[in-house]
Amino acid sequence: MSNEYRIRECRREDIREVIAINRRCLPENYAPIFFEEIREKYPDLFYVAEVDGKIVGYIMCREETAGFDLPRLKAKRRGHIISIAVLPEYRNRGIGKSLLAKALDSMRERRLEECILEVRVSNSIAINLYRKFGFEIVSQIPFYYLDGEDAYLMKAKLAS
Ligand SMILES: CC(C)(COP(=O)(O)OP(=O)(O)OC[C@H]1O[C@@H](n2cnc3c(N)ncnc32)[C@H](O)[C@@H]1OP(=O)(O)O)[C@@H](O)C(=O)NCCC(=O)NCCS
Repeated sequence: MSNEYRIRECRREDIREVIAINRRCLPENYAPIFFEEIREKYPDLFYVAEVDGKIVGYIMCREETAGFDLPRLKAKRRGHIISIAVLPEYRNRGIGKSLLAKALDSMRERRLEECILEVRVSNSIAINLYRKFGFEIVSQIPFYYLDGEDAYLMKAKLAS
């Protein structure tokens, strides 16, 4: 198995593999049209990791407007990480970090001010990963997931 991986924007024809990874790695699944709409609207915020022509991971994000920042009378723009996953047999070789770094760079290019995400309170691997990129827990959302588990809302400042 090659150790080389490549991070690139997700293409329409990758969506089937992305959905398969999502179903294998996470209980939070979405309708195929949702993946496709996010890709069409935010192509620079949806990346895949490829090894020998096979998609082994993805990160899917969108941009959100977060209400008004009153002193400046300006809507605050922020990124939202909707989903990230790497196939189990390709983990622990930096792919998750590379996907996240790429998505955060694109958010900075869009001049977004911050990035948010939700993560299961039990998912210490993902929480560790996010902390490495400056994410901090801002609140706990009770019963966020369908099985009743709470989520942490995490946030990172993006301004460079
Ligand atoms: C979270 C996930 C995407 C990380 O992917 P990955 O390619 O293995 O990540 P990396 O190899 O880049 O590792 C990134 C960091 O994760 C953390 N990490 C990885 N494995 C870990 C473990 N067994 N225990 C604790 N932390 C761990 C470390 O902080 C690591 O950084 P380090 O290598 O500098 O120590 C992957 O574990 C995954 O797909 N999990 C299932 C889906 C999921 O939980 N997604 C997040 C939903 S919010």
